[in-house]
Parts: sequence; C-alpha cells; structure tokens
Amino acid sequence: MEQLFQIEETIKKRKSVRNYEKRGLNEQQRSEIVTYMNQIENPFQVKVKFHFLETELLDKGQKLGTYGVIQGAKDYLGVTVKNTDFAMEAVGYAFEMLVLYATSLGLGTCWMGGTFNRNQFKTAMEISENDVFPIISPIGIPLEKRSITDTLVRKIAKSDQRKEWQELFFSTSFENILSKEDASDYVTALELVRIAPSASNKQPWRIVKDGELFHFFKVQGYGDVFGYDIQSVDMGIAACHFELALKEKQIVGKFYKEQDIKIELPEKTTYSFSWKKCE
Ligand SMILES: Cc1cc2nc3c(=O)[nH]c(=O)nc-3n(C[C@H](O)[C@H](O)[C@H](O)COP(=O)(O)O)c2cc1C
Repeated sequence: MEQLFQIEETIKKRKSVRNYEKRGLNEQQRSEIVTYMNQIENPFQVKVKFHFLETELLDKGQKLGTYGVIQGAKDYLGVTVKNTDFAMEAVGYAFEMLVLYATSLGLGTCWMGGTFNRNQFKTAMEISENDVFPIISPIGIPLEKRSITDTLVRKIAKSDQRKEWQELFFSTSFENILSKEDASDYVTALELVRIAPSASNKQPWRIVKDGELFHFFKVQGYGDVFGYDIQSVDMGIAACHFELALKEKQIVGKFYKEQDIKIELPEKTTYSFSWKKCE
C-alpha cells in the first residue's frame, strides 16, 4: 500500500481528541477516509473490517452514549474482527493506520475500548452478532480548547507522560537495557513505539533486541474486563509504529512468532510476536 503521509511527524502530532466542532466531515474528507480504510492491510493475516458512522443519518431518537467523554462528534469509526489468533493485534495495527491517516488530514480521533455504550453503537453501525467489536473512535475537527472532561481523563491516565526508554527496551534478555548505540538504525522506530497510545496509557509493550531480531512482549495490566484482551490491541499499535517507522527508513522486515522463545520472563510478562529484518 502506498504511504500517503509522513510517519514520524504524524505519530508525534497525534493525541487523543475528546471534543469536536459540531459538524460532520465534509464530503471530500469522508471520501478520503473511506477510501483509505478500505485499503488498509496488516501483517497478522487477519481480516479487519472498518465501519464509518454518520450520526446525522440516524433516527432522531437513536442514542449513542459515551458517558459524556466525547463531545460534539458527528462521525465515528468502528472496527470489527472474527475471534481468531492475533485478531486484537491486527485491530491495533490496522486501526492505528487509520488514526494516523486521519491525523495527517488534520482530523481528531480518540481510541475507545471502554467509555462507550457498545450495544448502542453496535446497533447504529449494524454490527453482526458473530463479530468482535472492540474499538470505536470519534472522528472530526478538533476544538481548540479542551473540555473539562477531556482534561480530567488526560490527568487520570497521565496521558502526557510515557515510560522511559530503559523501562521498555532490552538487549538479548530482560537483564540488560538496550543502549541507543546498540539500537543504532532502530532508535527512531523504538522511540515511536515508546510514544504510542495505549489503553489507560499503560504502555504494556517491552522489546528485547537480539541482533536483527526484535521480540515483543506484553505486560498484563488488566483483568478480563472487556471480554477481549485490550492490551493485545496495544501490542498491535506498537507493531504498527515500529514497522511504519522502519519503512520510512527503507528497512523492511516481517512479523512472525517464535515457537519457543528462550528468554526468561519477568512477572506478568508474556511473549507476543517477533520481527526480523529481511535482506
Ligand atoms: C486500545 C485503547 C483503548 C482506549 N480506550 C479509551 C476509552 O475507552 N476512553 C478514553 O477516553 N480513552 C481511551 N483510550 C485513549 C488513551 O487513554 C490514550 O491513548 C492515552 O491516555 C495516551 O494519550 P494520547 O492518546 O493523547 O497520547 C484508549 C486508547 C487505546 C490505545
């Protein structure tokens, strides 16, 4: 798929937006978004389906609750997937591509896994009973001034903070912190993983570099509150930032799963997937 926007710049620009001008996307914006979303691919061999909802087209009485978290938005994106291996990683990867594309057009978005009435959105987006419906996002023109709710949500999640490099990236095993010299060509890609969005800003990703192999691990920070593993979505977002950032530097590789990962794991940490450079 052709790369339509600057990766590093767009990833650095993106922030969750929770209040919007009270108008929907114009025809051109809507068409750009819908065209792009229908072309998105992901490296996890899982088909991800996108939905675009114009609330102005709904019956007047039809409710769409976000617990007051989102204000003003007239349009929403949704994503569904079949319940298979790597479904949530695929959702994370593909939906983040759409979020970044929207950001590059100057539009606001906000990943939402929790603060919306899933049944109401399911009806409005005509989602089938057989599909998993993990995530929605408003999409629209950001209001300059943040609402009180947005400010509060950001404060609770400490949204403007991220874990330090040395808490996230390791060399050969979890015993050794990865130095930036050792990370060499991969410093930017790792830095762009570090600043990625995640559910409640928990940043569950850990990466162990072993030569030209990068092993991705997940630190479990939630119980089973969503009925699906929201932190696997976060892992897919990490994979998206990593791979797109490398593509921008003409470094090409692929994701795969090690059958037997020989790395001793810290508490609550599980292996997710690996990436290797293709010559
Ligand atoms: C998978 C996922 C689920 C999220 N769910 C919600 C949500 O339900 N409600 C909400 O207000 N923000 C939600 N967020 C947004 C995060 O709180 C936000 O990304 C994080 O605090 C970092 O802030 P930033 O996106 O502005 O960089 C979610 C983010 C991700 C990646």
